[in-house]
Amino acid sequence: MSTLLQLRGLQKHYPVRGGVFRHQVASVKALDGIDLDIHRGECLGLVGESGCGKTTTGKAIIRLHRPTGGKIIYHRGNGGAPVDIAGLPASALKRERIRGRLQMVFQDPTTSLNPRMLVKNIIAEPLREQSSMGSRELETRILELLSMVGLTKDHYLRYPHEFSGGQRQRIAVARAIATHPEFLVLDEPTSALDVSVQAQILNLLHTLREKLELTYLFVTHHLLVVKYISNRLAVMYLGKVVEIASTAVLFNRARHPYTHALLSGIPIPDTGRRSRRILLQGDVPSPLNPPTGCRFHTRCPFVIDRCRAEEPVLKTFSDGHRVACHRRDEMERLVRDRFGR
Ligand SMILES: Nc1ncnc2c1ncn2[C@@H]1O[C@H](COP(=O)(O)OP(=O)(O)OP(=O)(O)O)[C@@H](O)[C@H]1O
Ligand code: SF4
Ligand SMILES: [Mg+2]
Repeated sequence: MSTLLQLRGLQKHYPVRGGVFRHQVASVKALDGIDLDIHRGECLGLVGESGCGKTTTGKAIIRLHRPTGGKIIYHRGNGGAPVDIAGLPASALKRERIRGRLQMVFQDPTTSLNPRMLVKNIIAEPLREQSSMGSRELETRILELLSMVGLTKDHYLRYPHEFSGGQRQRIAVARAIATHPEFLVLDEPTSALDVSVQAQILNLLHTLREKLELTYLFVTHHLLVVKYISNRLAVMYLGKVVEIASTAVLFNRARHPYTHALLSGIPIPDTGRRSRRILLQGDVPSPLNPPTGCRFHTRCPFVIDRCRAEEPVLKTFSDGHRVACHRRDEMERLVRDRFGR
């Protein structure tokens, strides 16, 4: 599988301003050196607790937010040379038609769709920005997109409030795929929907990925959703990626204690019983002032002195499994001995 995107040392620090003159007094280190490869055609799940930087990662990749540092190497599908889009100015992103190729679907279609715009204009907006289609051609394309997401011509001249949550998310998907993207960030795309329609939207996304040969970064809190839809999983903690593996390997042979803690919270489907839960001590530390060494050391049940002083880097096992933990080689045994998992 070829690589579509390579994130290298990606950083996004949000300034915190204070005082009368609103000078910068600190920074929220939302992303603090992300290393991640996204393979062409895969669905990569991105999981982690609230505030760990999942949405920021997505927004940085599609350049909704400009990264503070690091690289985003984009290997374009049209045969163009790889380009580092992290520092490209907006004018270059537009000139190179990169914006239309990397798109995002947000969690809540109620807020992501402009309530004062007709559906046809919502979907036309990115097409007008990225292409020079005439009105006839535009209409044909919008109708084609509506049909691709399971809507019809009857929906063309309506406003978002006239739709159910699931239908609104279909409109958001139509807009995201309008400009023939090759990569979509799906940021909790089903979390704001009724349980009954979540599966329909997941199936639609799955079908579109195959039909349009799309690559997804699927951001979610729900491990069972990513287990269903993702080929690989990346786990984030406090602005860092701490573990990456195929979904099957991650669910069966996780090597980072934080991943073990996340997995231990999943109910066992047949019985409703919970497997023995790994309860983490304390709260997630502030990204204003992250802990030294391993960021997880303040909550890790297996912390040793080295963890407080030295930051673990992502090391790769022969099967491609990557883990950032000083004790990764003994973690399976440590977790089994302590928690019986
Ligand atoms: N525009 C912003 N200005 C300042 N801080 C921000 C901004 N956006 C996000 N942050 C902070 O950056 C950190 C990461 O936020 P982000 O939204 O990426 O987390 P997340 O993993 O998507 O969380 P959630 O699961 O709750 O959506 C948080 O501490 C958040 O408060
Ligand atoms: S490096 Fe140390 S503190 Fe960090 S996850 Fe591994 S054992 Fe825990
Ligand atoms: Mg988020």
